[in-house]
Amino acid sequence: MNAPTSIAAAVAPRPGPPLWLLAEVTYRCPLHCVFCYNPVDFARHEQELSTADWLRVLREGRELGAVQCGFSGGEPLLRDDLEELVAEAHRLGYYTNLLTSGVGLTPQRARALKEAGLDHVQLSFQDSTKEVNDFLSHTKTFELKRRVAALIKEQGWPMVMNVVLHRLNIDHIDPIIALADELGAEYVELANTQYYSWAFLNREQLLPTREQLQRAEAVTDAWRAKLGERMKLFFVAPDYHEGRAKKCVNGWGNMFITVTPDGDVLPCHTAKMLPGLSFPNVRESSLRAAWYDSKGFNRYRGTGWMKEPCASCEHKEQDLGGCRCQAYLIARDAEAADPVCAKSPHHHLVQEAVQRVESGAAAPVREQPLVFRDPGNSRRLSEA
Ligand code: FES
Repeated sequence: MNAPTSIAAAVAPRPGPPLWLLAEVTYRCPLHCVFCYNPVDFARHEQELSTADWLRVLREGRELGAVQCGFSGGEPLLRDDLEELVAEAHRLGYYTNLLTSGVGLTPQRARALKEAGLDHVQLSFQDSTKEVNDFLSHTKTFELKRRVAALIKEQGWPMVMNVVLHRLNIDHIDPIIALADELGAEYVELANTQYYSWAFLNREQLLPTREQLQRAEAVTDAWRAKLGERMKLFFVAPDYHEGRAKKCVNGWGNMFITVTPDGDVLPCHTAKMLPGLSFPNVRESSLRAAWYDSKGFNRYRGTGWMKEPCASCEHKEQDLGGCRCQAYLIARDAEAADPVCAKSPHHHLVQEAVQRVESGAAAPVREQPLVFRDPGNSRRLSEA
């Protein structure tokens, strides 16, 4: 990738405030999901921010204008101070979300979080069956998740059930939606895997076929017609099969401000891997300075940084060139057009990956084992 240029920085538009503060309070996690979006080298980032640091981050985020605060991880419930952080976020006036695997949400903690003012819970499932759920997370958590769903309902929280879809579970979409209905979810996010981080390592085994996707969308539509207003289903299509890039994170440095467990301030979960970019850390910088003045945040704002084919593309304002992390992962150039776009000179690399799956050449799990997200693999892969 080319080094950031002062020209690009000069034409970066002055942004409005962020709307979302994503507080990734820990990378520790009892699950080992094969599609986890945490950075592959997460085990190198063990110096978590203190409670006092997070309280300051929450205050600064609110002063900056953020109105929604998501507590995520890793598993945020592994932080003993989560209730204190939620209470402060609530007091500051944020709408608060907890993004959780459910592990650690005991009845006592659920009550304490309710009292602290938590507004909303997103509970992840890996599948509708115990076997696949437990295999994909490398834990025995399916029954626990069912109990946690009941706890969430008991506390009167709106519940989003989140299921990451891929080749190994997408054919179960009908029982997955039935499970969500049985558990009383108000919203179901059927999110096709985005191939970054651990999912990128396992792409060969996870990428679904076009036929699988079409069937899954048809099943989702049939459920939508049946459910009416009772439950909202969001089917997040995978960009590999689309030929068009998505406006990733709703635009770089445009809506989201993410703070990692060790305090880096990022425009997206994985931006840290992009070479030639540096991002501030809350131990040395305010969120305001990170958002408005840092080189990292300004680097890919707007359209001034683009080269061809993005620079003259009629869709550039809509997709803002797609995802910078995906451009780097596939094209090894973070300034390139997102290779999922049919106009990208690297689009053939995406097509080849899809073609391997369509033709049956992609290695099945029994031949090429999945790489599970765990600290040992993280250290091994970071060293490699
Ligand atoms: Fe980083 Fe898309 S995930 S820009």
